Amino acid sequence: MGMNGSGCMRLATIGRTLGAGALATLLAAGAAADGALDVDADDFGCISEMTPVRGFYVGNLLGDLDATLAVARSEDGGTYPPGSVVQLVPTEAMVKHPEGYNAATRDWEFFELDPSPEGSAIRVRGFADVVNRFGGNCFACHVKAEPKWDMICETGHGCDPIPLTADMTRVLQKADPRCDTSKALTPEDIELLKALGAAG
Ligand code: HEC
Repeated sequence: MGMNGSGCMRLATIGRTLGAGALATLLAAGAAADGALDVDADDFGCISEMTPVRGFYVGNLLGDLDATLAVARSEDGGTYPPGSVVQLVPTEAMVKHPEGYNAATRDWEFFELDPSPEGSAIRVRGFADVVNRFGGNCFACHVKAEPKWDMICETGHGCDPIPLTADMTRVLQKADPRCDTSKALTPEDIELLKALGAAG
């Protein structure tokens, strides 16, 4: 997938704002030479070391966490900036590419991950065609969010619901095998994990 003009303009704009040195650092950190974001398995770590927003977590691979948080925390929604990473559960992630990279998905790339104590393996990645292990197409659900939410579903944004309660997502986050400090799971947590078939 190539980079088009508007994506390059976007980087040029970032460069003007930050100065050439900062742009070079950004490029070294995660953007490929053509302006596309270079995302690999190492970009996905312990979910709870990301920044919590209501029930989910966000980060920014280009170091612009403030811009990501400004949209995530906005009551009016908005368009997430390039580099944004969003996760609700350890096994699924969305990453925002530079503007114009994939118009259909509004530049979101969808990932299904296999997290383990060694890190994350990428099971599937892509744009409108990624299907999770339960047979669900990520894009088909997320595109139903009202446009102002930029494909972020939460609850009440218009997406079809997923069969996970807030308690279930919380315990899946807590049991993320990528986190160093194994957080103490309560007996209730373990019951929930068993119910989810994730207790091993
Ligand atoms: C059946 C529809 C459906 C499918 C399929 C689906 N999702 Fe979601 N997803 C949702 C809903 C609904 C939420 C919000 C759940 C909540 O907050 O309780 C959500 C939450 C998320 C979030 C947290 C941000 C948000 O939108 O609330 C991410 C990231 C995410 N999903 C990624 C994915 C990825 C990646 C895939 C495919 C591998 C996928 N989802 C498949 C419906 C779906």
